[in-house]
Amino acid sequence: MVKICCIGAGYVGGPTMAVIAHKCPDIKVVVVDISVSRITAWNSDQLPIYEPGLDDLVKSCRGKNLFFSTDVEKHVSEADIIFVSVNTPTKTRGLGAGKAADLAYWESAARMIADVSKSDKIVIEKSTVPVKTAEAIEKILTHNNKGVNYQILSNPEFLAEGTAINDLFAPDRVLIGGRETPEGQRAIKALKDVYAHWVPEERILCTNLWSAELSKLAANAFLAQRISSVNAMSALCEATGADITQVSHAVGKDTRIGHKFLNASVGFGGSCFQKDILNLVYICECNGLPEVANYWKQVIKVNDYQKNRFVNRIVSSMFNTVSGKKIAILGFAFKKDTGDTRETPAIDVCKGLLGDKANLSIYDPQVTEEQIQRDLSMNKFDWDHPVHLQPMSPSSVKQVSVVWDAYEAAKGAHGLCIMTEWDEFKNLDYKKIYDSMPKPAFVFDGRNVMDPKKLREIGFIAYSIGKPLDSWLKDMPAVA
Ligand code: NAI
Repeated sequence: MVKICCIGAGYVGGPTMAVIAHKCPDIKVVVVDISVSRITAWNSDQLPIYEPGLDDLVKSCRGKNLFFSTDVEKHVSEADIIFVSVNTPTKTRGLGAGKAADLAYWESAARMIADVSKSDKIVIEKSTVPVKTAEAIEKILTHNNKGVNYQILSNPEFLAEGTAINDLFAPDRVLIGGRETPEGQRAIKALKDVYAHWVPEERILCTNLWSAELSKLAANAFLAQRISSVNAMSALCEATGADITQVSHAVGKDTRIGHKFLNASVGFGGSCFQKDILNLVYICECNGLPEVANYWKQVIKVNDYQKNRFVNRIVSSMFNTVSGKKIAILGFAFKKDTGDTRETPAIDVCKGLLGDKANLSIYDPQVTEEQIQRDLSMNKFDWDHPVHLQPMSPSSVKQVSVVWDAYEAAKGAHGLCIMTEWDEFKNLDYKKIYDSMPKPAFVFDGRNVMDPKKLREIGFIAYSIGKPLDSWLKDMPAVA
């Protein structure tokens, strides 16, 4: 029986290994992590992450050929194939701070593999890493040469949170990069055989190591760029009376462009886009390519601009101040169907409103009060280091209350902001909400989930990203 060990039981390691175990009953899969609380949760009924379909999948193979353990060294030493799926956050200090990937977690995993391995291993980069990382990993693995042979493969993960299980069951492609030597090709074949249990062969792409590593950064940069492009257009729509929904529909009908990832919003979030683009920018700078670095940096700048613009729109609409006013925040996760709040635009928007002394009442169906308080008192990039490895925040933000119902959040609020596109927000009784708010009552829809015309019929002053403005908003000072 082939033995797989995955180091890192996070948003990628957990779901990916559950799918491999489910599709490959002839393979034993052990997911290991240094976090005792995470492993305990994976072994319980309350999994550490929310992902549609994940609970049933884990239950179907846990204890059969899928195991979760903190005995990292034992399972690494027994494995034939080791996936490394640890976090690769943005460096917060030292050389490349604020841009470069922090490979400290990866390095310590690699050193541990080198220390405990007694048999040959295929070591797979599942984490997103800078291009050329495999070269450094090889050096670490072979530094105290004990006669163990290692083959490094790059097998970046393209799943999206919220649809992870579907993405893993039916991936657009699986990418495997390896050395162009006979040993490298054999390692590629071994990993290909795992995926071939359920992925059609034509969808398994094999490349050299550097192409695979760079393709992941490139794919995220392209995806984020589409969002920043449509968001940049949304600002122009608001200034001219064009409607971004109509514009993106018309643009996306061009088959060369396509309709996916063309929704305007308050901005992209999540643990990957910003960190991977910053990483790309840093790699370009290090390779003497400042023009290329600046090109990609602009994708982040537009994203920051969009979040600022949203906050400015709220404050300027509400008579240029939200001081002492209650604002309801519906949704805190960075997208629907996940409880993940890493780099969620809600953090920046809430911080912007708190900066203007608003009182916030926040509701998200999957995010706990503890998480929200932690996020709002954290410094930039700190979120990217696993929460369970950090000390608790010393204090909570006093102007923030977290409630477990959208109506409760909205009661008595001067304005309501939709920050996540949860389906339940589309079906709320907005008349009931309107009646519970002081007038004029405002809705700021950061995800364009509601039809602003319908909201205006109820009586709201409604703002949607990139849509023709309410006459009220037109009369307010310009938003920069
Ligand atoms: P995560 O933070 O949820 O999980 C990483 C886990 O690794 C943590 O539980 C941490 O305790 C563990 N860990 C760190 N160092 C360790 C060590 N030395 N030994 C054992 N365990 C260790 O991170 P997530 O979201 O799963 O991301 C992992 C990687 O996958 C990152 O490089 C990310 O960029 C990439 N990725 C993430 C995607 C996502 O949607 N979250 C999608 C595609 C790639």
